[in-house]
Amino acid sequence: MAGADEIARAELDALRVRGLLRSLEPLRTPPGAEIELRPGERLINFSSNDYLGLAGEARIAQALAEGARAWGAGAGASRLVCGDFLPEHDLELELAEFSSSEAALLFPSGYAANCGIVPAFAGPADLILSDALNHASIIDGCRLSRARVEVYPHADVGAVEQGLRAPARRRIVVTDAVFSMDGDRAPLRELFALCSAAGALLIVDEAHATGVIGPRGEGLAAEVGVAADVRMATLSKAFGVAGAYVASTRAVCDLLVNRARPLIFSTALPPALACAAQASLRILAGPEGDERRARLWSNVRRFAAGLKALGLPARVDSAIFPVLTGTPEGALTMAAHLRELGILAKPIRPPTVPQGTSRIRFALSAAHTGAHIEAALSALRAC
Ligand SMILES: Cc1ncc(COP(=O)(O)O)c(C=O)c1O
Repeated sequence: MAGADEIARAELDALRVRGLLRSLEPLRTPPGAEIELRPGERLINFSSNDYLGLAGEARIAQALAEGARAWGAGAGASRLVCGDFLPEHDLELELAEFSSSEAALLFPSGYAANCGIVPAFAGPADLILSDALNHASIIDGCRLSRARVEVYPHADVGAVEQGLRAPARRRIVVTDAVFSMDGDRAPLRELFALCSAAGALLIVDEAHATGVIGPRGEGLAAEVGVAADVRMATLSKAFGVAGAYVASTRAVCDLLVNRARPLIFSTALPPALACAAQASLRILAGPEGDERRARLWSNVRRFAAGLKALGLPARVDSAIFPVLTGTPEGALTMAAHLRELGILAKPIRPPTVPQGTSRIRFALSAAHTGAHIEAALSALRAC
């Protein structure tokens, strides 16, 4: 039998041949709109989900440092064992207030949250309707639940209506609010109306909407006035920190404490990170957050207009803009060309996106200046 190293080499070769090999490349500078990858290679960064430019914010780093001094570096155990600290509870209270929900519950990451939420509500007797472009963490949560999963065509409300007619103990619709690789918005109002009529649950992943959309950056559900049963949001994107939370009722959060395996069987978020996220929340939900959102949306409008002028499709839905190349090789070539021109915009290939839809994904930030946006557009023109 082949050893692990031999298997790994063969698998990697197969990925390389298909243009799907991925590798890691360390950043040499703190997060921001301008970064350095290779020594001396300055790049304008369009590949982070740091939508409000908070990942490198000194006040948040300061809160992290003070939190670490007061509470130590690590949580030491899962929250249910001995890793549950006061800063986490304080943050949950503030997140619940921010989300206008009865309660909030922290998770170590958005990936962990989705892998915990879906199986907490769905089992083999249940039906989950999941959008075809949902994030991998939702897909994995659905798989872990062992429920019957019907993947409906992207944003197809008619298919959801049809799907909800099937009998099951519980029926659940789960969707990204803003789709991570396409940047479009889920039809939340229509999905909510269908779920309410059918007595089904609606679970919404607000990872790319929190901080960006809605009053005080509360997310898409708040923007469109939809009371989803469970909302998941990350602290890793617009918040610029790490971790995630669920906003819902007290009972839902209590159920997750009892059933969400990634919360039960994984070490808690370090308390210092909760201190950092609290500092971030106070910026994000306040007047400075509004100013940063205004700068972000002005960048979004400017970039969308520039893309349209280049004959490329663009909508003003979120901070995410895909530029489709179709093949993985096309995406790799375009990303390399952009990088030569000083623009970091990473190629996105299967399995992150469906076959035939490889792309360059541009993620805009409030930290980008007008000059950064123009540089990206002129690099795209040159491509
Ligand atoms: C829609 C969506 N949900 C969940 C996640 C996972 O969040 P995290 O990076 O905090 O694990 C991501 C991004 O990584 C995402 O794009």
